[in-house]
Amino acid sequence: MSSLKSIAVFGATGDLGPYLVDALLESKAFSTVKVLTRSESFEEKPEKFNDLKARGVQVTALDLADEDAVTEALQGIDAVVSSIGGSVLASQLVWVKAAARAGVKRFIPSEFGINSQKAVGPVFETKRAVQEEIVKNGLEYTLLFVSLFADETVIPLFGFDVKEGSARLVGDSSVPLTLTYRKDIASFIVEILKNPSVSRNKALQVKSLQTSFDEIIERFKAVGTPLKVSRLTEAEAQEIIDANPNTVTSFYFMLLIKAAHGDMYFDTVDNDLFPNVKPSGLDVAVQEAIESAKQL
Ligand SMILES: NC(=O)c1ccc[n+]([C@@H]2O[C@H](COP(=O)([O-])OP(=O)(O)OC[C@H]3O[C@@H](n4cnc5c(N)ncnc54)[C@H](OP(=O)(O)O)[C@@H]3O)[C@@H](O)[C@H]2O)c1
Repeated sequence: MSSLKSIAVFGATGDLGPYLVDALLESKAFSTVKVLTRSESFEEKPEKFNDLKARGVQVTALDLADEDAVTEALQGIDAVVSSIGGSVLASQLVWVKAAARAGVKRFIPSEFGINSQKAVGPVFETKRAVQEEIVKNGLEYTLLFVSLFADETVIPLFGFDVKEGSARLVGDSSVPLTLTYRKDIASFIVEILKNPSVSRNKALQVKSLQTSFDEIIERFKAVGTPLKVSRLTEAEAQEIIDANPNTVTSFYFMLLIKAAHGDMYFDTVDNDLFPNVKPSGLDVAVQEAIESAKQL
């Protein structure tokens, strides 16, 4: 069985990347953890990269659009994990070619959302284009679908204003919802890399938990922080989106409408393949929301 010991990470200082790097280091299962970052990013946030270096991470700052430079930086790497942001996913097309030239075995592209093989929209088209490029270049892949980040769902943008003691729901809030904490995503990635034959060329759905917006409201009540609930119909939410389509608020309303349609729910998951991952439950997200409201 081939082993993936030397790991390169793209997007290490974004929303998800730090969790991945922390888990790779904590597992002590890998001989090399290397971070590839844009030169400008390195100059903008040197403290983050110096911290990574102090913890034993190799950091290479380069022009990530330069295929030759990325090929050089990936020499000796067994697997790439990319957590590049959703607006620049196409950058990965160059990295896939570079990885193949450098002899990388496995490429784990930046997925970490709903199942891009079924979803509709430009982001998912780009994610599928990257998947095709991986196959075309003869690399192994693992795709990891996680639905929504559990630790970024019970937040004001999704309608939870815990400081004000209120929650605004959209459409049918009893529809089941799959959530995965970023820390658990990172644990799944470690297990995927430690078990290459189990995860080879697989599109995997995992979860921390299944819930619903109604259940989240109930959980707040159960821990003594009841929220006053207001409701919007899908049509009302759609009107807000149509009035200002390109705002962050509209993006979250779009997600809430999708959630009300069941698009954020996995009816099957592959957690059983990775019994070492012990995901957290809903209480963690609820307590985090209560704690962050206290800081405001
Ligand atoms: N399921 C969910 O609820 C959810 C929520 C958010 C995101 N996601 C998914 O998770 C993945 C990671 O998202 P994220 O929010 O962690 O990303 P992010 O924080 O927006 O960005 C991650 C990294 O992308 C790199 N980057 C930015 N612009 C770049 C460019 N022009 N060229 C090359 N690299 C660039 C940066 O790395 P450097 O600074 O090191 O260059 C940045 O730190 C995405 O696939 C996204 O769709 C899912």
